[in-house]
Formats: sequence, C-alpha cells, structure tokens
Amino acid sequence: MDHFTLRDGVLHAEDVSLVRLAEAVGTPAYVYSTATIRRHARVFADAVAGLGRGAPLIAFAVKANPNVAVLSLLAGLGYGADVVSGGELRRARRAGIAPEKIVFSGVGKTEAEMAFALEEGIGQFNLESEEEAALLSQVASRMGRTAPVAFRVNPDVDAGTHAKISTGRSENKFGIPYDSAPAAYARVAALPGLAVRGVAVHIGSQLTDLAPLERAFAKIGALVAALRADGHAIAYADLGGGLGVPYDPDRPAPPSPAAYGAMVARVTQGWDVQLLFEPGRLIVGNAGILLTRVIRVKPGASTPFVIVDAGMNDLMRPALYDAWHAMRAVTPRGDLFSANIVGPVCETGDTFATERRMDRVEGGDLVAFLTAGAYGATMASTYNSRPLTPEILVNGPEWATIRARQTIEALIDADIMPQWTHP
Ligand code: LLP
Repeated sequence: MDHFTLRDGVLHAEDVSLVRLAEAVGTPAYVYSTATIRRHARVFADAVAGLGRGAPLIAFAVKANPNVAVLSLLAGLGYGADVVSGGELRRARRAGIAPEKIVFSGVGKTEAEMAFALEEGIGQFNLESEEEAALLSQVASRMGRTAPVAFRVNPDVDAGTHAKISTGRSENKFGIPYDSAPAAYARVAALPGLAVRGVAVHIGSQLTDLAPLERAFAKIGALVAALRADGHAIAYADLGGGLGVPYDPDRPAPPSPAAYGAMVARVTQGWDVQLLFEPGRLIVGNAGILLTRVIRVKPGASTPFVIVDAGMNDLMRPALYDAWHAMRAVTPRGDLFSANIVGPVCETGDTFATERRMDRVEGGDLVAFLTAGAYGATMASTYNSRPLTPEILVNGPEWATIRARQTIEALIDADIMPQWTHP
C-alpha cells in the first residue's frame, strides 16, 4: 500500500497536490512519501520480529535509495544499513546509522574501502572470496584491528527472477561456492585480524516466489550446523534481501512480508543465531514516484507516442530490465487510451511502455510513474546532458527538497579543459 491517492480529481502524495508540487519544483522529479516508507519499514520489522537469537538486525540495502534523508528516516526506525561501497558507507554514517548496524557487502571491496570500514568499526564484512579475506586480514592486522566477517555463500539456487538481478546461481559472480564453503572457512579462520562470526546469502532481487529463498535458507542452515561442528563460532546469519513488490496490479502480488517471516521462522528454527536482513526494494519501492510532464503527443504508425520529460537516464529500469511501471495521469480526464510512453533521449530503448492502456493524456499533462522509489534516482545518469532530477520528500501536508535539481552549469563545469604544454 502507498500514500499516492486521487483527491478531488488530483493525484496527491500524502496531503500534497502533485500539480502544486510540479509548479514549485518542476519536472521530472522523484517524490517520496515518508508515511509509506515508515509503513513498509514497520511491516517488515513486524514480520521478522522475534525471529532468531536476540532482535534481528534489519540493514536497509542503501543501493535501493541512498538519499541521506531517506536513510536517516530509516535510522530513526532502528534500521541499519547494507552498503556495497565506501560511498554508501559514508552516506549511512552521515545519516546517523551506528557503525555496528552496518554490513559491508559487495563483490569488489578495495583496500581503501576496507581500511575505512575498519576505522569506522562496522558490524560485519560479507566476504565474497578467499582472496578478499586474505587482503582484509592484511589490512586489519596492519591497523591492529579485528574484522568481524561472514562469507557470502552462493547456494546455487535459481531465484526465478530477471537474469540481470539474479545472484545465487553458481555461474553468477557472487559469493563462494556452497560446496567449498567449509574448506574456505577453515582457511580463513586461521588468518590474523579476522573474526569469523557468521554466514550470508542473497540470491536475487524482485523475488515473487518464496520457494527458492526457502531452498537457499535450508542449505544455509545445514552449513551453519556443519561449520559449528568444525568448531567455528557462528552466531549470525544474514539472509539478504530480495522480496519483491507489486508493480503491476493486474499480476499476482508477491508474497507478503508476513508470509516471508513465517517461512523464515520455519526454516531457521533451531539455528540459534542472530538474523540479519537486507531489504531494499520492499521498503522504498512503492514509496516513490517519478513525476513527469508530457512534452507532446506525436502520432505513431498505429499507436500514439506520449513523449514525457523524463528519460531512460532518469529511470533506467524499463530500458535495462524491461521493467513494468504503472503510469497514472495526475489529473485524469476520465477516459483511457493506448499509447507508447517514451522519453526524449535519442535511443529507441528510451521507452517506458509500449501499447499501454492508460489514462488519456495530452501535451502539458502530468504523469506519475509509480513504484519508482527503489533503484530509480540512484541509477540515474546525465546521458544526453540531462541534469540529475531532484528528489522531494513529502510528510503529510509538508514537503522538502532532499536533493536539488542539478544545474546544467554544474554538469558542464565538471568538465576540465586541459592546459597542455605540449604543442
Ligand atoms: N543485499 C544484497 C547483497 C544485494 O545485492 C541486494 C540487491 C539487496 C540486498 C537488496 O535487494 P532488494 O531487497 O532490493 O531486492 N537495480 C535492480 C535491482 C538490483 C539489486 C541488486 N542487489 C532493479 O532495479 O531491479
């Protein structure tokens, strides 16, 4: 559920009219709802409350929406952070997330990022290879620190999602192979500067079926027992993120957080570990929209093209994953039509929807792309020299700009003319 609703014929974000907001901040713009973020954060927390030893740590996957205002909202609800770069770690710290609530995932951690994370005293490094473990051991030893570590284990389970966001098959780049995990733990436990404390798994994103997750978790449970039998003190299991959100109201909804929690309760029974979760999309996906204005409607061979002022650079998901986003007119005229919704970028891939049945719109109308709060603004680029869109956070009747629109001057001024001495 979300807080984007029609009131007196105008789509609102909570109590704020999107017509008014577009007049104030221009388009395109990302608009987030605090009430929706809060609600989703609570629903997930309730679904996993009481599972495992002690309270679970919910580490929000920062990559889904790294705006510091969003992170600090989640920090206030007790959330930690799952980060995949030194940059995300800095954002989480800026948002006031305690270091012990931060997990460092990511397949290519550099030496500098490791040193920074050790200095900050983060809670856990999810190691992706023995090579990485060896480097972290060196860095930690040099600094006189001990790095709390888990291996991300690749359970070789097909998550049944889009290939580009599937991570748990043996041919994917993520984690160490399940079968060689006991040997890897044995070698790494002998390294100085590392304290083995757990296991981690994440098999993919936008999962719409619990069965692959359950298969993966069951394998992790067996591994926890095997590692303990080998003498490792396994006290934490990080079950990753990945639970999908409804994008298309005409398709079956993904399992609820409650159903996910019940499955986790069943499969982790007797593990006797503290559980960690890394949800991203579930928390912020439906809490954001991309507000855009129709530049003009152009006749097509059979279907008209609605050209909007947002492009694939602003919301990459349709171009990258053929993702489906619902579109609603902000001031619906009361009838529907079929249209191709496209952006202004000079690529055929800059297409948000083909032959979409939607509210009929005309040039100048506002359109909202729904479910754009996760992997939206964060994946934007400036392709076609299009400045980055602003981000607006709504809170009841109030709104705040939480990232200003990039100016074209700032974009161009970042380029530097070389001062050659060579002729
Ligand atoms: N943990 C790890 C280690 C991850 O790699 C990810 C997402 C998450 C947690 C959070 O997954 P979530 O709960 O959000 O599904 N850009 C793509 C999604 C990429 C997901 C990458 N990893 C998209 O727009 O669909």
